This record gives sequence, structure tokens and C-alpha cells, in this order.
Amino acid sequence: MLSRLAQLAAAVALAAAVGCSQGSVRREELTAPATPADTGAAVAVVHDDLAGWADVEQGVGGDAAHGKSLVARYECNRCHAGTGQPAPSFDRQCVGCHKVIKAETLPFPKDKLEAWSVATRHFITTPSLATTGRTLRASWIASFLEEPVKIRPHQEEWMPRLAISKSDARDIAAFLTAGTEAPHEAASAGDVARGKAIATRKGCLVCHAFTGASTASVAPEVPGVTPEKLARGIEQAPDLRLARQRVRPDVMVKWIEDPTAVRADAEMPALGLTEEEARDVAAYVLREPLSPLPLAEPPITRLPVLERRVSYEEVAARVFRKSCTHCHADPGPNGDPGPGSTGGFGFAARGVQLLSFRGTQLGYFAGGGARKSLSSREPALERWGGSRLVAALVARHEETSGRPVSEVRGMPMGLPGLSAEEIQLVETWVSQGAKE
Ligand code: HEC
Ligand code: HEC
Ligand code: HEC
Ligand code: HEC
Repeated sequence: MLSRLAQLAAAVALAAAVGCSQGSVRREELTAPATPADTGAAVAVVHDDLAGWADVEQGVGGDAAHGKSLVARYECNRCHAGTGQPAPSFDRQCVGCHKVIKAETLPFPKDKLEAWSVATRHFITTPSLATTGRTLRASWIASFLEEPVKIRPHQEEWMPRLAISKSDARDIAAFLTAGTEAPHEAASAGDVARGKAIATRKGCLVCHAFTGASTASVAPEVPGVTPEKLARGIEQAPDLRLARQRVRPDVMVKWIEDPTAVRADAEMPALGLTEEEARDVAAYVLREPLSPLPLAEPPITRLPVLERRVSYEEVAARVFRKSCTHCHADPGPNGDPGPGSTGGFGFAARGVQLLSFRGTQLGYFAGGGARKSLSSREPALERWGGSRLVAALVARHEETSGRPVSEVRGMPMGLPGLSAEEIQLVETWVSQGAKE
């Protein structure tokens, strides 16, 4: 199907379609805005010290020109606009194609378009990288590329965990922040309590989570913001807890006063704050005491394997074709088989083919051109289920809980971990010899 769509790409005005797909918000999927939990008074309080942050940023260094070539090598343009690279061919545009599918503008029968649109749930909206460097700290970008964290709590997709060295991450951060104003210490003159009251009145927490902040009553609406704009804003608003490490304090006041004055492509609306009010609100975002995060999720408990027989078809229908599509297809005439198959996102080909039974029997490239079985037990992976296939699924839960596993990369890449029942199904199939 990828190839038929790819051929059609020339026939549709792709750019136009991408542009107007902005309107198709998945509002029905948006949950009510999260109200930060009232954490009570007994817990210790985190108060990040921002003194000296500008020196930290100046010290990040990095080679922006090399960073630019790395952005091409890691194919950031498959998911992000604004990379400075031309768009890849249509069959490689994860986000570009998903946007067009969601917009339902391709010349296919209506029922087909609807079915695809419903089936396409992830990698539709990603932040543009064109001007992120104006608000984000280079030190944060570098550490994020090495070890991604969840930024937008109302979106399921994560930035994928790439295989990237510290120095490559730093060079990309230098590229993304190149040409921006040099960081300078800003006087943090605002009043936290006043800022909190203004933030409540202006509805900041309608869109933003602020994990660990004590409960501020949330305004029921954001005055002057249309429901469509609000839905997009809720989906794309970062958790403000991250702002202390993530956002340049010296642009924070200006941003809160008028985001589009800092980045013309900002999704956040200007909320009519005076500069003085913005200063107070910035103080609230940067200095409101935060309780420590709850203890990380415990490792996922694997369920005992099922007694009944599990076929490849069942696993494919419930897992592989649902969550591994477009990253693990068989090579052939149908467009790009995906980064987990023939390589991509900076990864060499691993040869993991999951969308046909025959493909699964080929195993994976284990280095030096040798292939190994996806389902046989490997001593180094015993802790996570034994086989490469199950271990990858267990490891994804470890990654999203902040405990990345060096022996195996978590799967599905960039998506939440599978449910215990789905992992049980795969493990049962593997334990029965991964039969047809
Ligand atoms: C498979 C798709 C995919 C690829 C490939 C990818 N990203 Fe991302 N990236 C995402 C998603 C999704 C997010 C949003 C994550 C979130 O909100 O938690 C993101 C977030 C980011 C952010 C944070 C920006 C912001 O405003 O919050 C940066 C910076 C970033 N990516 C840089 C890169 C770079 C550089 C590359 C290439 C080395 C890259 N990404 C490759 C999907 C991708
Ligand atoms: C030519 C269009 C096209 C391209 C390119 C494409 N996809 Fe898809 N994708 C679709 C369609 C259509 C669906 C829904 C039907 C299906 O599963 O085939 C989908 C479904 C998915 C799903 C399962 C549903 C969901 O949203 O979770 C994932 C995951 C996915 N794609 C990831 C990717 C990634 C990652 C890339 C880039 C490596 C990519 N896709 C490239 C068209 C595309
Ligand atoms: C309509 C939804 C919405 C409202 C209301 C809103 N924001 Fe935002 N905010 C966003 C979005 C979306 C972003 C991500 C950047 C962008 O605009 O594309 C953002 C980004 C930010 C950032 C940068 C965070 C980061 O990690 O990059 C800060 C700080 C911020 N908002 C503070 C506020 C404050 C303070 C208020 C209230 C005065 C507020 N926001 C109200 C949607 C909203
Ligand atoms: C967004 C793309 C993407 C998705 C979605 C994805 N994978 Fe992968 N997968 C990759 C890439 C890229 C690699 C190569 C990683 C490496 O070499 O470290 C990989 C590698 C693997 C490996 C080998 C891991 C290792 O460390 O040796 C397994 C097993 C695997 N994937 C299974 C799955 C399964 C099962 C799913 C669906 C539940 C899935 N993947 C979904 C991209 C993806």
C-alpha cells in the first residue's frame, strides 16, 4: 500500500494537503486537561537553582556545521519540518504521509480513506525544528537526543531513542541553536505568588500540565481562544515541569507575553498579558516549588504464557501490523521497508521483518553479517524474557520509566510500551517455536 500511495504523491498537491491538515484535530481523543495532583505538604520540595545557567549554555560548544550533516544522516526530516533538509521521498515521510492520510484528501474511495485515517493514530503532529533553538537550551537538546523524555503528556508519541554519541548530540544541538541570541543571565524579578494567580486566571493549566506543582484551580476556559485552537494547544503543550531545564530563562518573559513574537510558528496563543504580568508568571513557572516525581514505574510484570496455541496470524493482527508497521516490513517493490528492516534514522540495517511469517523466520542481523533467531533465548537477555523479540518489548517499558537497557533497544520505538496481554501473546508464540 505504501507504493500505491507513494505513486500518488505526485498527483496530489502534497504541500497544500499538509497545510490544510492542520485543521483535522483528533479532538475526540483528547482527554480532559490533567489537573496536577495535590501532593500535600509532607513531601520534600524541588527547587531548581538556575544561577549560572548562561555559563552552562555557553560551555556546551559543539560543531554546528557537523551538526547540520548529522541531521541529514539521522534523517530527522522524516518526522520533523524545519530541519533545513529537503523533504525525503514520499514513502519515507513518516509524518508527511500520515498528515495526508488524516486529511483524507487522496484520490481513493471514501471508505478506504476513512479506514486508513482511523488506523493512523501516531506521528501526525511533531514540533518543527526551524525555530526551536530560540527557546530551547542547547544543553537540554543535547541530553534529550541522547536520552529522550516525554515532553507532551497529551500525545502518545515519543522522540525515538536514537543510537547517538554525546558529541554528535552536542553538534546537532549547536546546529539547532546556531544564530540565536547569546544566552544572558536575566534578573528573575517576578513574584511567584502573583504569577500563580495570573496563570490560573489566564488558563495556562488548561493546556499545560505542571507536574509536581500544587493544585491551582484551573480556569474552565481560555478566553478568546477558539475550540479548535484550544484542542491543538492542549495536544502540543509541554509539561511546564520541564521548562527549568528546557527553556531559556532569558526568553521566557517575552514568550509568555507573546509567543509569536519569539517564534512566528508558535501554536501557543498570546493571552494578553502585560510585560509585568508575564514576568510574574515566568517567575511562577521557573520558581514555584515542585514536589519530587513519584517513584518510577516498577518493571512490567510478564504474564504466564497462554495454554492455547497462538499462530503468527494472531500475533500479526494484534501486534505486528498494529504497532510495528512501516518500520519492519519486508524489502520489496512497496516503497521503504522501514528503519528497523533496511536501516534508517541513523541505524544500520537490522533486517527485522515482522509483517510476513517468512520475514520473521529470517531473524535479525547480529553483527558481522550473521543472522540470529528473534525467538531463541540469548543468555544476555534472560532478565527481560530471553528472546530478542520479547526482550525488546519489555525494554520499552524500562525506557519509558527512565531505565534504558543497553543490551536491547525498546520496541515499539517512539511509542508507549505494549500492554502485558500483548506481550504475553508474543511470548506465547515465541515459546511455541514462533510457528505459522
Ligand atoms: C520517528 C519520528 C522522529 C524522528 C526520526 C525524529 N524525531 Fe524528534 N521528535 C519526535 C516526536 C514525536 C517528538 C515530540 C516528543 C514529545 O512531545 O514527547 C520529537 C521531539 C523533538 C525535539 C523537541 C522539540 C520540542 O519543541 O519539543 C527535538 C529538539 C527533536 N525532536 C529533534 C530531533 C532531531 C535532531 C532528530 C534527528 C536526529 C529527530 N528529532 C528525529 C519524532 C521524531
Ligand atoms: C505513504 C504513506 C505512509 C508512510 C510513508 C508511512 N506511513 Fe505509517 N501509516 C500509513 C497508513 C495509511 C497507516 C494506517 C493503515 C496501515 O496500518 O497501513 C499507517 C499506520 C502506521 C502505524 C500504526 C498506527 C499508529 O498510528 O500507531 C505506525 C506505528 C506507523 N504507521 C508508523 C510509521 C513510521 C514510523 C513511518 C516512517 C518510518 C511511517 N509510518 C511511514 C501511511 C504511511
Ligand atoms: C491554548 C493552549 C495554551 C495555553 C492557554 C498556554 N500555552 Fe503555553 N504552550 C502551548 C503550546 C502548544 C506550547 C508549545 C510551543 C508552541 O507554541 O508551539 C507552549 C509552550 C509554552 C512554554 C515553553 C515550554 C517548553 O517546554 O517549550 C511555556 C514556558 C509556556 N507555554 C507557558 C505558558 C503560560 C505561562 C501560559 C499562561 C499564561 C500558557 N503557556 C498558556 C499552549 C498553551
Ligand atoms: C518507529 C520505527 C519502529 C517501530 C514502530 C518499531 N521498531 Fe523495532 N526497530 C526499529 C529500529 C530503527 C531498529 C534498529 C535498532 C538498533 O539497531 O538498535 C529496530 C530493532 C528492533 C529489534 C532488534 C532490537 C535490538 O536491540 O536488537 C526488534 C526485536 C524489534 N525492533 C521489534 C519490534 C517490534 C516487535 C515492534 C512493534 C511492537 C517494533 N520493533 C516497532 C524501528 C522501529
